[in-house]
Amino acid sequence: MRQRQRRTFARLFGSLVLVAAAGLTSIGTSAAPAAADGPRPLGQIVPVPADVSPGGSPYTIGSATRIRVTPGEPEVQRIGAYLAAVLRPSTGYALPITGATGGDGIRLLLGADDEGLGDEGYRLTSAKGSVTVAANTPAGLFHGVQTLRQLLPANVEKKTKQAGPWKIAGGTITDAPRYAYRGAMIDVSRHFFTVAQVERYIDQLALYKINELHLHLSDDQGWRIAIDSWPRLATYGGQTQVGGGKGGFYTKADYQAILDHAASRYMEVVPEIDTPGHSNAALASYAELNCNGVAPPLYTGTHVGFSSLCVPKEVTYAFFDDVVREVAAMTPGRYLHIGGDEAQSTSKEDYDTFMTRAQPVVHKYGKTVMAWHQIVDATPIPGTVAQYWGTTGDEANVAAAAQAGTKLIMSPANRAYLDMKYDAKTTLGTNWAGYVEVDKSYSWDPDTFVKGVPARAVLGVEAPIWSETLSTSAQIEYMAFPRLQGIAELGWSPASTHDWTAYKARLAQQGPRMSALGITYYRSPLVPWV
Ligand code: ACM
Repeated sequence: MRQRQRRTFARLFGSLVLVAAAGLTSIGTSAAPAAADGPRPLGQIVPVPADVSPGGSPYTIGSATRIRVTPGEPEVQRIGAYLAAVLRPSTGYALPITGATGGDGIRLLLGADDEGLGDEGYRLTSAKGSVTVAANTPAGLFHGVQTLRQLLPANVEKKTKQAGPWKIAGGTITDAPRYAYRGAMIDVSRHFFTVAQVERYIDQLALYKINELHLHLSDDQGWRIAIDSWPRLATYGGQTQVGGGKGGFYTKADYQAILDHAASRYMEVVPEIDTPGHSNAALASYAELNCNGVAPPLYTGTHVGFSSLCVPKEVTYAFFDDVVREVAAMTPGRYLHIGGDEAQSTSKEDYDTFMTRAQPVVHKYGKTVMAWHQIVDATPIPGTVAQYWGTTGDEANVAAAAQAGTKLIMSPANRAYLDMKYDAKTTLGTNWAGYVEVDKSYSWDPDTFVKGVPARAVLGVEAPIWSETLSTSAQIEYMAFPRLQGIAELGWSPASTHDWTAYKARLAQQGPRMSALGITYYRSPLVPWV
């Protein structure tokens, strides 16, 4: 409650009033450097917390430190084990996990008894004898653990023993997200990425409190998910990729492994089957899906807009129903994304016809429809979520749909697309939406980017990465980092904290942490890297 009131207040009157009224320390100014072996200043993390009150003695993790977790709660036990796995190699301490009785150590407590923390918020209290993370939910505890990680020196992320001290500044952080949806998308179709590569990306995203993983599972160049009722989609349609490499696909067990890993990081998976365009891999796998009954060859180029499911044929709907049924049955999350972008080989009439039939199928199998924002030119059914990927913010059709109740996820391509080149010197990526330096990627407001969209329509943000030019984890990471952090902060932190100067100082401190994690990030000249 307290949190929500403060944020509403901030929206109305701006950050100065927020700071004055709430008695916050200024987290909007640049970072005060920590003393040589002193703790990092409380709150100098990404995304910046909603509320930071520094004060008192720091907590120092030592050889006697225990991780105390709420007893009888397996998820809290698991989060404790996750934290221990981060801390043990670098600190060299045993960090046994034990029950929560006892006031010392690192304490993970479920049951914060604070409505304002909501489903994902947490409170972190650091003092001489203990550091306590309390939350209403395991997800909140998990996000609080990410904050705890970032409050420790960057070397804590290393896999070998490092010199301490391992201090956490004294004080209290009270934190909860601005938006419920904070996503990242990976295109596993243009180039295939293995389960291990996706899990690695999940782990990196979790550090920045991303909670949605959108998997772009089908496109012209490859079908990446096993469908029992249409097996050739994966076994034939998944066997290549851009440039002609061998491609690949996820078996149902592979997909389950990704789901399990995402769930362990409190991330919901949003599977996408792109329709009616971007469908060459399906059309190549089954001749009967084509209007002329002839299967086209597999495609390994990078053009878009040349393929369409055959809207007049009934078999198209049998295919779509089977695929949605199987993907929905495998997926515990709320959403199923049906694409709908760049359907340039589908007439407007056919596009309407297809989307009018397709959306209720997703509902029939218990999922909420997500689609790229072109869905607003058909008729979104109640509940459909449109993912905005435009660049101008002038799209009156999107504004009208949002006013009529369609919810939006914001992924403006010239801000949130992580595959855009940073500048003319970037060798990877594409530049159809322009060059997107780190400041540009951060400098927008999801609530106001599209003119005429009411703020209540915006569910959150997502940073997609398209893989036409990207085929390794190192390449994904170079393009994602450090722009991903900016989108994560836009998704999590109160609008009142938005400030490039303060942000870039906090981002700079992520450099050594990313290095310790083996992330080869882009060292933007705009960021004062430490
Ligand atoms: C898209 O970038 N075609 C959604």
